[in-house]
Order: sequence, then structure tokens, then C-alpha cells
Amino acid sequence: MTKPDILVIGSYPEWDTEGLQADYTVHDEPAPGIRAVAMKGHRRLNGTFMDSLPDLELIANFGVGYDAIDVAAATERGIKVTNTPDVLTDDVADLAVGMLIAATRQMPQADAYVRAGRWAAEGEYPLLRKVSGKRAGIVGLGRIGRAIADRLAAFHMPIAYYSRAPKDTPEGWQHHADLAKLAAEVDYLIVALAGGPETAGLVSREVIAALGPDAMLVNISRGTTVDEGALLDALESGALGSAALDVFASEPDLDPRFLKLENVLLQPHQASATVETRQAMGQLQRDNMAAFFAGKPLLTPVN
Ligand code: 8YV
Repeated sequence: MTKPDILVIGSYPEWDTEGLQADYTVHDEPAPGIRAVAMKGHRRLNGTFMDSLPDLELIANFGVGYDAIDVAAATERGIKVTNTPDVLTDDVADLAVGMLIAATRQMPQADAYVRAGRWAAEGEYPLLRKVSGKRAGIVGLGRIGRAIADRLAAFHMPIAYYSRAPKDTPEGWQHHADLAKLAAEVDYLIVALAGGPETAGLVSREVIAALGPDAMLVNISRGTTVDEGALLDALESGALGSAALDVFASEPDLDPRFLKLENVLLQPHQASATVETRQAMGQLQRDNMAAFFAGKPLLTPVN
């Protein structure tokens, strides 16, 4: 049987490349006869792109977030889209909590203090603030938001969350439909929203102002969810205490203002970047493709 032609977008480790090449005729440029796209990264796939591949039937995304893909345009053209939910939830939640603690306890700065010989020369590192028991606000209580909240509950943090409708949660978790009101009541605001036009700029200048000088913003979702200009202004002036960020509006080219700030922890969009999770994501991407070409139901369809 001839192998279906697919277009592979993004940079894949060897194990994924081998997996794709075993079952498909792999192209790295658009070509006639391409029936599926294995998509990785954040390049925008719009209707014009889809029209350049007239035989396209499937876009299999490597990632839970599919904001780079115009799903409405795909649906209009009868193109199926899949993603990779669940398999990365633990990693993303782990990194969110790790960033929150590392930034509060200034672990990168304290490491630099030790390496520079300042501990011996100058004495103890300055006292910082406690993490456990502080008030957590989760923005978006989907799979990842819930996993973060569960972890923070184990740190004895009261949990409040923003979502359009209340969710089924453990007793005592407080729902807010007004994000600025939630921000005013928490020490940590952790953004776990899906990206895309619906959530663009939701963490607005007003929300950031409501957080205040003792609070921290943590973002492991998409840079687009936060008004980045307002965030930078607030971090520079001290109107917002601090931030821990894995995602940025113009990543990987960050606004240079970020690099001058002491009160922000910067991560290179690496929340799902472990060997175990990336292998599982690649496997799920290929399993969706295999199901499609076998005429079976898709495992994790988006449309
Ligand atoms: C990946 C992600 O970096 O799953 C997502 O939505 O942002 C990350 O896990 C990205 O999708 C790589 O394609």
C-alpha cells in the first residue's frame, strides 16, 4: 500500500521523525497530493495556507493549544483538526508551581549569590515571603488550570478561579465571573487560558492594576492572553510585585524591557518540554493521523 503524503511543519526530535517516516511520505514543502499536515510550533495556518494544499484532509497538531490554526477555516473546507490534550497537563502544572516558588523564593538570584561567593563574603541572603497558605487565583479552570489548583491546594492555598461558568470543584473553591475582582483578592494570579481571539488581552491593564505591588502574575498559557505593555509598565513601576512567565507575545524574540527587570522570572516556553511528555505528544499526534487514515474515529478531535 502506498504511504499517504504528509507535510511536516516544525522541528521534531529523531523519534518523531522516524515515526512519521515509517508510515508516511514526508514533505517539508507544500506539494500536490498532501493529505495531512503534522503541525508543530506556532506558525499561523490560515485559509490561504489550507487552499495551497487542495488535497488536505487533516491537520494533526502537536500541542494542546491550537490557536495558530484557523479551525473555522478548516471546518469550512472539511478539514479535520486534532490536538494533544491531557498528556502534557502534569508537566505544565508542575512548571507553573515551580515557577511560582522559584520566583517567590528568588531561587535563580540566590543561586547567583552563592556562585559569586557572596554568601561567605556578605552573609545570609535577604529574607523573602512565604508561599504556602497564600491566596491563589486561577484564570481558566480547564484541565491545566485544575491541575495547578489541585497542586496549590496541597500548599494550603485557598483557591479562587475565573471562568465563564462555575465548575464542579472541591468545596470552598470560589468562582469569580469578574477577573479584576478576582485579581484584587489574590496573592498569585495564574493564567491557564486557551489562546486565540476570545482570550486575547483578557488579563488587561485593569486586571494587572488590581493585582497590586505584593502580588505575582504567572503565565503558562499564551502571551496573547496578557496586555504585555501594561504588564511591563506595572513591573517597571512596582505597581505589580512580580511575574513568572513561560510565554510571551512575540516569543522567542522578547520585548527587551523584560530583560532589564529583576522582578520577573523568564522561561523559554518549556512547560511541556520533558522527554516523557514530548514523546507522548508525538505519539498522540501520530495516533490521530493513523486513526484518520484507517477510517477510525479520531482520538482527540478539535472540530
Ligand atoms: C508546545 C504548547 O510548545 O501544547 C501547547 O499548546 O504550547 C506546547 O506544549 C507547542 O504546542 C509546540 O507545538
